[in-house]
Amino acid sequence: MARLLQALFLTASAGRALASCAYGTFLHPRAEGEEVPVATFGYTGVIGPHNWAALELPTNNACATGTRQSPIDMVANVFEVIPASDVTIEVNDMPDGADFENLGSTVEVITQGGTLAFDGKTFELQQFHFHLPSEHLDNGTSQAMEMHMVWQSAAAEIAVVGLYINIATGEVTTNITAPATKREITSRSRLFGKRQAQAPVAGATGPTTLLETIFSVVDQISTPGTKVKTPPLVMSEVVDLIKAGSFQAYSGSLTTPPCSEGVNWRVSTQKLSISPASFVKARDVIGFNSRFPQNTPGQPNILMVSALGSAAAAVSLSSTPAKAA
Ligand SMILES: *[C@@H]1O[C@H](CO)[C@@H](O)[C@H](O)[C@H]1NC(C)=O
Ligand SMILES: *[C@@H]1O[C@H](CO)[C@@H](O)[C@H](O)[C@H]1NC(C)=O
Repeated sequence: MARLLQALFLTASAGRALASCAYGTFLHPRAEGEEVPVATFGYTGVIGPHNWAALELPTNNACATGTRQSPIDMVANVFEVIPASDVTIEVNDMPDGADFENLGSTVEVITQGGTLAFDGKTFELQQFHFHLPSEHLDNGTSQAMEMHMVWQSAAAEIAVVGLYINIATGEVTTNITAPATKREITSRSRLFGKRQAQAPVAGATGPTTLLETIFSVVDQISTPGTKVKTPPLVMSEVVDLIKAGSFQAYSGSLTTPPCSEGVNWRVSTQKLSISPASFVKARDVIGFNSRFPQNTPGQPNILMVSALGSAAAAVSLSSTPAKAA
């Protein structure tokens, strides 16, 4: 068994070098008028994550053999905490809106510039996209969604900022810190009906405006291969939120084929919020697009562990005498 694992790992390291050549194939914004490519991999059945490697050998080898695969359960000791103040992060607003595309595997916003810098390295923002439910687990717990901001350096190194998204518990229009006066309630009731007059729940989190804006048009790209222009996007809300927290950092991989490793993961401790109505709209288009949590970084790829387990089960089955009926 140890020898078999060793042989598999040798194959794995060879695959990693090859996989890195595939960097950037899906990261770059497309030229104006160019068609939105639809992914050939998926999340269920034979095109699902258990079989990604076989969909394109050897390009996708790392999906089944890599030992630093993402996503992972973000528990103590698998990541390093880095204060956001140690990282430079800037994202350009998109006053004319942005292209919002349905790639089949995710919905993605093509960004218009942004910089991430740490450890003397500078990365340019390429796009951000969404997973439902979250791919990383926050100390064992799945979150409603996860946003991935994908950055690339001139040397084609990749950094991904991950942001968990939870269902908002506050109202969309909630910005009231003091209880509303009777007169305000009366006038608002007249405008919106009684339900609108309820005071916000203490400690409630209102939805992130950026997400509400983006998902207000997601129903227009329900078909893979389609795109729409979003309303104007203001990025400072999310950037300021990120800057107020810290990052859980680790070296992992792309969570989609070719599962290339060497990705600088920076999962924010700050969470975004989405209104229940927008979550339902997003879910109806995205469906399900979360790769299962991978083994602890540095441990054997869980699919190789599983393959050995399956082989052992098959051997034990063939050596078990058939029971009389
Ligand atoms: C993570 O979960 C474990 C067990 O569920 C708990 O003991 C620990 O305090 C949690 N850690 C954090 C940082 O919340
Ligand atoms: C919301 O409240 C904050 C302070 O709690 C205030 O700074 C901000 O201007 C308010 N926004 C709107 C749109 O009223």
